[in-house]
Amino acid sequence: MLVALLLLQGASQVVAGGSRSRWTYAGPYGKEHWEADFPDCGGTAQSPIDIQTGATWHDPSLLPVLPLGYGSLWDDTFTLHNNGHTVKMSLPPTMTLQGLPWVCTAVQLHLHWGRQGQAGGSEHRLDGEAAPAELHVVHYNSETYANLSQAQHQADGLAVLGILIEAGDTPNPAYDNILRHLDSVQHAGQSISIPAFDVGELLPQRLGHFYRYNGSLTTPPCLQSVLWTVFHQRVRISSAQLQQLQQTLFSTELGSPHPQPLLDNFREPQALNDRLVLASFPVGPTGYSTGEIIAIVFGVLVGCLGVGLAAHFVAKRIRTKRRREHDVVFKSSSKRVTVG
Ligand SMILES: *[C@@H]1O[C@H](CO)[C@@H](O)[C@H](O)[C@H]1NC(C)=O
Ligand SMILES: *[C@@H]1O[C@H](CO)[C@@H](O)[C@H](O)[C@H]1NC(C)=O
Repeated sequence: MLVALLLLQGASQVVAGGSRSRWTYAGPYGKEHWEADFPDCGGTAQSPIDIQTGATWHDPSLLPVLPLGYGSLWDDTFTLHNNGHTVKMSLPPTMTLQGLPWVCTAVQLHLHWGRQGQAGGSEHRLDGEAAPAELHVVHYNSETYANLSQAQHQADGLAVLGILIEAGDTPNPAYDNILRHLDSVQHAGQSISIPAFDVGELLPQRLGHFYRYNGSLTTPPCLQSVLWTVFHQRVRISSAQLQQLQQTLFSTELGSPHPQPLLDNFREPQALNDRLVLASFPVGPTGYSTGEIIAIVFGVLVGCLGVGLAAHFVAKRIRTKRRREHDVVFKSSSKRVTVG
């Protein structure tokens, strides 16, 4: 068993480091071919997923995610790198995450996005709906493992935060800390040092409202070692910022004879299979929150009360009218009797 595991681990390292490690989002090395070179991509616990919020399981024991040291800047700079698949920013080991089953240490963050004029771009979806982009903050279980390379092969090795990003009118200054430097890493292989900033500001405000499930890396080698936290609340950047993300980068190196724009770097939702998706907050069967359900029930009750009262008064009126008619008939007939 142990030997088999070691062999497997060795084999996957060879694949990751070997010549067959090439992959892209489209074309002959595209998503549908990942499984051939990276067998885990065909696994049964893959990411991303489409989270059916009404089918999630409320687990009140889930603690709010607690980022520590996200804002205390030990390093003056972060490194921004275009690796041909995404733009990635290295994170210092002084950034940790609590509230998960194990203490986690941050490693890097990166983004996924679509293209201008199309709705999708995020990897995770909520009730079938994709956002225009998604931020992933990658951590490893530093309580149990020495580093990312060791942890990523273990079932309890990694923890990734997923943040859905939507576009609005107002520029988001936190995201500008990254986006304004994209010009300097336009081509694959390029890196630049950028001033450090509070990474916590890239997260949504409500850190206590999230979905959690066991999944994988969303890119080859698709290792099934990620405990996912996908926040319910989205963050908002401006439409201009979204365009900057969609239109600045190339997946090819500087001087390439066939420059390729870096866009649509997202994977479609994978089968949930027999996995459970937990929610840290009560989500109703239709995806409504408790507050919304209370409002709906209250509204319906008030409505019923209104209809009931109306019916009561109409019935009362009819009864009064009938009684009056009856009285008239009675009186006239008694009159007739009198006259007769
Ligand atoms: C990660 O940790 C393992 C086990 O301690 C060690 O053998 C390996 O060299 C480390 N790798 C890196 C990249 O630091
Ligand atoms: C993830 O998998 C571990 C190990 O199988 C399990 O203990 C844990 O409950 C799972 N977490 C979720 C959110 O399903």
